[in-house]
Amino acid sequence: MGEVILSIFGFGNVGRATAQVLLEKAGIFREKYGVNIKVVSISDTSGTVWLPEGIDLPEALLVKENFGKLSKWTNDYEVYNLSPREAVREIDADVVIDVTNDKNAWEWHRTALREGKGVVTSNKPPLAFHYEELIKEAEKRDLPYLFEATVMAGTPIVGLLRGNLRGDTIERIEAVLNATTTFILTEMERGMSFERALERAQKLGIAERDPSGDITGVDAGYKATILHCLAFRPITFNEAKVRGITEVTEGEIERAKARGKTVRLVARVEGGSVTVEPKEIPRDSPLAVESHENAAIIKTDLLGKLVISGAGAGLKETASGVIGDILKASLTLLKR
Ligand SMILES: NC(=O)c1ccc[n+]([C@@H]2O[C@H](COP(=O)([O-])OP(=O)(O)OC[C@H]3O[C@@H](n4cnc5c(N)ncnc54)[C@H](OP(=O)(O)O)[C@@H]3O)[C@@H](O)[C@H]2O)c1
Repeated sequence: MGEVILSIFGFGNVGRATAQVLLEKAGIFREKYGVNIKVVSISDTSGTVWLPEGIDLPEALLVKENFGKLSKWTNDYEVYNLSPREAVREIDADVVIDVTNDKNAWEWHRTALREGKGVVTSNKPPLAFHYEELIKEAEKRDLPYLFEATVMAGTPIVGLLRGNLRGDTIERIEAVLNATTTFILTEMERGMSFERALERAQKLGIAERDPSGDITGVDAGYKATILHCLAFRPITFNEAKVRGITEVTEGEIERAKARGKTVRLVARVEGGSVTVEPKEIPRDSPLAVESHENAAIIKTDLLGKLVISGAGAGLKETASGVIGDILKASLTLLKR
């Protein structure tokens, strides 16, 4: 039995869902893969709980759910006030898990790699702005740097492009990568105004309290940039052309509907170009997804047209991507 030590940053929706799966499936992972996963630290913005013997995950979940802050944890545990960079340096771990929304996290991803630690992340900006640097840093040290959950949550498009399709030349990817905009556009098709549809999405917890990243297309743009890096060559989000759904009118939606079409926020990724914009698509297109589903059509020289679709958001669904990467990183490190 091999042991792998994790340091988790971020204990919001995805962080807690990941901890929950680690807890529920620990026995299965031991039996199936011979891996015992030990979490020695968890950080949120209030502080870092760190115990080299391993943190009691049920208690951590209870504290966060009841008090909102890890710093409120008092009995038995020390809460440290460390920056992520300090924590990454000081805490002895094999893999650093970033499930935060820290836009500057690329700096401490790099620190982690320089300290000889693997990284697993669901956080998009580090990849959308620093892909080349981070991948090079990981390759130089032969360390896992894994980010399945950054695009299409657990639906494994990153693994497909990074692993299975390496022999194919990708010609183009067209994809619907943001669930909030799909929800709003679908509600508008049913007769609701943009504002009311957005309000409903927020009420249902589909859109964040600050939905600007979704509706302006930035979130889809980050994901499309990551797909470009994987399928073609590293670029940054600054090179992407992005238009969100804020200017889509009820009239446009109606006219599309009358033509038997539907409007979705579509990303188009080709060699050297990333565009994200609302587009009319046929109702029978694989991109005419509903609810929190995402879809991508990948066109390659050898395989032709490949369609991948599945959950593009959600907690269990995102944890699926994070956990898959944690196991991949663990097995890689244990083989050494
Ligand atoms: N939710 C999804 O369906 C989904 C899908 C794919 C990818 N993602 C990505 O996954 C990440 C997490 O999403 P989420 O929905 O879990 O967000 P969330 O609920 O807002 O949680 C973010 C967590 O990160 C913590 N945090 C922020 N900056 C930090 C820092 N510098 N050091 C330590 N902790 C820090 C926050 O601390 P506090 O608790 O103290 O605020 C919070 O616990 C995001 O990058 C998101 O884009 C989410």
